[in-house]
Amino acid sequence: MNDRFLRACRREPVDCTPVWMMRQAGRYMAEYRALREKYSMLELCKTPELATQVTLQPIQHGVDAAILFADILLPLEPMGAPFEFAKGEGPVVHKPVVDKKDVEALRVIEPLEGLGYVMETIRALKKELKVPLIGFAGAPFTLASYLIEGGKSAHFVKTKKLMYAEPETWNALMGKLAEVVRRYLHAQIDAGADAVQLFDSWVGQLGPEDYREYVMPHVAHVLKDVEKRGVPVIHFGTGTQSLLSLQREAGGTVLGLDWRTPIEDGWSRVGHDRAIQGNMDPTALFAPRAIAEKHAKRVLDDVAGRPGHIFNLGHGILPETPVDTVKAVIDFVHRASEKK
Ligand code: CP3
Repeated sequence: MNDRFLRACRREPVDCTPVWMMRQAGRYMAEYRALREKYSMLELCKTPELATQVTLQPIQHGVDAAILFADILLPLEPMGAPFEFAKGEGPVVHKPVVDKKDVEALRVIEPLEGLGYVMETIRALKKELKVPLIGFAGAPFTLASYLIEGGKSAHFVKTKKLMYAEPETWNALMGKLAEVVRRYLHAQIDAGADAVQLFDSWVGQLGPEDYREYVMPHVAHVLKDVEKRGVPVIHFGTGTQSLLSLQREAGGTVLGLDWRTPIEDGWSRVGHDRAIQGNMDPTALFAPRAIAEKHAKRVLDDVAGRPGHIFNLGHGILPETPVDTVKAVIDFVHRASEKK
């Protein structure tokens, strides 16, 4: 197996820098869009043969890890909060969480109860893959925001209103989500995931004091426990420049950086005794190839050969990203970081 990615997570020497791209399984590829003509997003997730196929699609471009094709929202359905991906709108939760009784009604599921198809996909993938497989889950804050807002949000007003006005209800909700996520990540590792990533995509909406008070204990509940399994755990968020030292305290073998945080600034906040992942601007992949490569080079120059770097984008790859530029950047990172 190509173990460059796992070695970098452990800050061991590598022959060249490993690369993968968040959201690599999906819409930037024509093969994926062709499947989406026939099946809905949720059908793809829930059919292990199809989810396996989509996970494998980007591997041909030379990435050093696969990420399971699924979505962070999948656990919400068996917990009692069904949703759909509405065309052009993103996720829509049918009955958003409003008050204490809605939180009480949510079930703390065992993952094999309602998410067995995910573990089946992982087992199928492990038979095919020659690169490590990354499993993942959404972090409690990011999941809570979808549950409360009912979908995507600009200012997270309903989420923060509940958090500030009803801290007990908030903590009950976050506690339930954290426990489901903890069990879910364990189940993915049991099924064969070689690493896991916790996506706290929207946590950068909070300042450090609110993060510490309302979020950090719940994230720590997940990460401190999952870390005991000995597989790398990637802790990712965006807009987290002021949160990185607290996120590190909450846990994670590897901390994700977005492109707004220069590598060295972020890494010194995280501490050089942890690995980091990131952080090219995903929109730089739309630039002419030479400029895209310049952005990739800047990331590598900032890392300056320090062990423990996984090259990635600072957030997910966008639909319509030119495939040739993706391939060129992956090759460039491998070539430019090669240890002679
Ligand atoms: O990374 C991968 O390639 C694996 C698959 C993956 C998906 N979603 C597939 C998907 C992963 C890791 C996710 C995580 C996810 N989902 C996050 C965290 C990462 C991030 O980007 O911040 C979030 C916030 C979601 C919630 C979600 N799912 C949204 C907001 C949307 C709609 C808007 C959008 O960006 O597409 C989805 C749908 C979704 N999840 C698609 C895919 C391929 C698009 C479905 C389609 O239209 O075909």
